[in-house]
Amino acid sequence: MDENSTDLLIVGGEGDLALRKLYPALHALWRGGCLAEDVRIIALARKELPAEEFIIRATEWFVSGGGQADESWSSFTERLLYIAADATSGEALADVRAALPADVERGLVVYLATPPHIFAPVCIALQAAGLVRPSTRIVVEKPLGHNRESFRNINQELCRIFTEEQVFRIDHYLGKETVQNLLALRFANAFLEPLWNNKYIDNVQITVAESIGVSGRWEFYDEAGAMRDMVQNHLLQLLCLAAMEPPAHLSATDVRNEKLKVLSCLRPMDDHMVRENTVIGQYSEGAVDGEPVVGYNDEEGAAPKSRTETFVALKAEIDNWRWAGVPFYLRTGKRLQRRCSEIVIEFREVPHSIFGAQLGSGAANRLVIRLQPDEIIRLELMNKVAGLDVANPLQQVSLDLSFPEQNSEGAAPDAYQRLLLDVIRNNPTLFVRADEVEQAWLWVDQIHEAWERVGKTPETYTSGTWGPSGSVALVARAGRRWHE
Ligand code: BG6
Repeated sequence: MDENSTDLLIVGGEGDLALRKLYPALHALWRGGCLAEDVRIIALARKELPAEEFIIRATEWFVSGGGQADESWSSFTERLLYIAADATSGEALADVRAALPADVERGLVVYLATPPHIFAPVCIALQAAGLVRPSTRIVVEKPLGHNRESFRNINQELCRIFTEEQVFRIDHYLGKETVQNLLALRFANAFLEPLWNNKYIDNVQITVAESIGVSGRWEFYDEAGAMRDMVQNHLLQLLCLAAMEPPAHLSATDVRNEKLKVLSCLRPMDDHMVRENTVIGQYSEGAVDGEPVVGYNDEEGAAPKSRTETFVALKAEIDNWRWAGVPFYLRTGKRLQRRCSEIVIEFREVPHSIFGAQLGSGAANRLVIRLQPDEIIRLELMNKVAGLDVANPLQQVSLDLSFPEQNSEGAAPDAYQRLLLDVIRNNPTLFVRADEVEQAWLWVDQIHEAWERVGKTPETYTSGTWGPSGSVALVARAGRRWHE
């Protein structure tokens, strides 16, 4: 099945995700000639809304996100059809089937941009309406459960109707350009591989810092917290890509098998370890980008005295030959000083300095792989300052592999653009397999349970800082610092 014969059905087609991310990404694919000329994109939602009004709304969101409502956008909207119906009713979905080409050989991608509790009834309704064919693929996005058990329940419902090969679980971090480049850097170059282990790497830091707060979704967020919202999925996926063994091929099975092995090697945390190796925080009022912001418990819709964490920092350990003894520090939080997501590989210092104290601490080589706001890959090296007579002849320089200079194609594609194209092309490599999600939940559930047992409560941190002081202490205890 290829993109020339695939249609799309977006369930929850009038929601935030669809308007903010999916239509702009599909438009970019349309403009790039990656969708069939006669593609049908059906936006399905309950709300009774005249079709023209839906297009006006979609256009407003597109423009507010920086898009241009030009000719290519209008030709795209001609392929976009709004249907108001209850997606959990097989009868109502008959309208959808009627709006799609009759050719049952055509592919159909169904994107469930809805809360997971309606996944099961929607799948049953899709089946009743005759929309589940061997070429149908279903796309789901987190939250995929609250813990391992609830994930299993959700998954069982999906797998009653679809095979594992038909289910595409999105983690949008896997679609980010620099994440792709991490694979190229690791596995298309020979020089890094001999260094990529506990002999030469001192520690790995993975930070996903956000300056935004809970963005009007306090109630949803409060159920999850930073651990479920970010660590269980995005941060652990980044950890897997940084730590996995070279897969035999760039095939979905091989890549996912290697990621699963990493997740299986994560050392489970007991009560003592969660006390020592995890820090949680919650933001209080402060200032971000010079603007005053309220604390978590004063956000719109907040219930007083919530103890949900908006920040997590932890030291993870991977028990295998390559990584034994190398801490993987993970850190994520809302209302931090600035938006920055990066993976930093800190190499060990030279075993003996012939430069004496000039090669002081902090002179270790670092590989910085930044995902956002800018896409950078930078190798930090020590170098000589030019000149005959300089007091301190050593300086740190960066070998910059940043994208703008390197990529003649211009701006990197948005993560959803890449991932949607992969679903259309039926390439599941960048999607998360059920056993990976389960294994990630297993590790995260153990931490939650231990937090519960030891009565761990979040430390308060002022908005606009880098999180609670415990986070600094977590790395400082081992004589290290966060890369900021
Ligand atoms: C989502 C989380 O998965 O990722 C949000 O639910 C978070 O809380 C978002 O803000 C961050 O994504 P990005 O791509 O903006 O870093």
